[in-house]
Amino acid sequence: MKYVVGNWKMNLGIRESVALARGVLRALRGKEETPNIILCPSYTALGEVRKVLARSRVELGAQNCGPALSGAMTGEIGLPMLEDFGCSHVLIGHSERRAFFGETEAMIHEKISLFQQAKAMPILCVGESHEIRESGKALEFIAGQIDSAYEGVDVSQKKPVMIAYEPVWAIGTGEAATVGDVIEVHQFIRDRVSQLLQIEPEDVVILYGGSVDAENAYQYLREVEINGLLIGGASLKLQQFTAILESATEVILAQK
Ligand code: PGA
Repeated sequence: MKYVVGNWKMNLGIRESVALARGVLRALRGKEETPNIILCPSYTALGEVRKVLARSRVELGAQNCGPALSGAMTGEIGLPMLEDFGCSHVLIGHSERRAFFGETEAMIHEKISLFQQAKAMPILCVGESHEIRESGKALEFIAGQIDSAYEGVDVSQKKPVMIAYEPVWAIGTGEAATVGDVIEVHQFIRDRVSQLLQIEPEDVVILYGGSVDAENAYQYLREVEINGLLIGGASLKLQQFTAILESATEVILAQK
C-alpha cells in the first residue's frame, strides 16, 4: 500500500480548503484502487473539510498538536480535540515547527507519547539540514531524532508507526533528494525504528517529503522501500496532486 499525504500548511482558508478537498474526491470518483490519502488542512478548516470527506476513503489529518492532552496552554489545540474533528493522523515535529516555533526533541517526545492511548496516529517528521548532510552525519542525526521521539514509548497497541523523512534542504526549495539517498535513509530508519520499538520492519511506514511534484513523484513511489509521500506545495494544486495520486495508483496496480 502507498500513502499520499497533503500538507496544506498555513495556506488555505475554509472555502479554498473545501474546494480542494471536493476536487480530490472528484478525481477519485469511479476509481477502485487508490492510495491511502490523508489531507491536512489548517485547524480552522478541519470541520468543513471533514464534512466533505465524510463517507469517502480520504482521511483527515492535522498539522500539529499541543504537547499535553489538556490544560492551561493558551492557543494550543490538544489531541483529543483533533480526534473530535475526526483526525486520524497528526504531523509531529515538522521541520517548520522545529525551526520557527522552537519545538525541541523533548516537546516532540511529549507529543508522540500522547498517542499511546489515542486512536489517531502520529506521523513523525525527521530530516537533516544541508550542513549536516554535507558533514556526512545525516544518518546519525536522524537516529537521534527518532530515538529521542520514541524512546520508552509503548507502541504495542499502535501500528504501523509512521515516519516522514523530509530533509530540511529539500522542503519547498525545488531541490528534491535523489531516489538513491532517500532509499538509503529509509532503510536506515526502518532498521532503527523496528529495533527500537521491537516491531516488524513492515510495520514501519516511511514517507518521503521535500519538493515532490507531479514530475518526480513516480520515481519515489515505485520503490518498495518508499511507502508514500508527504507533499506540501504540490498538494495545493489540484492538477498536480491528482497526477501524483494517479502515479501512486499506477504503482499499486503494477505491484499487485
Ligand atoms: P514541499 O513541502 O512539498 O513544499 O517541499 C513538504 C513538507 O513540508 O511537508
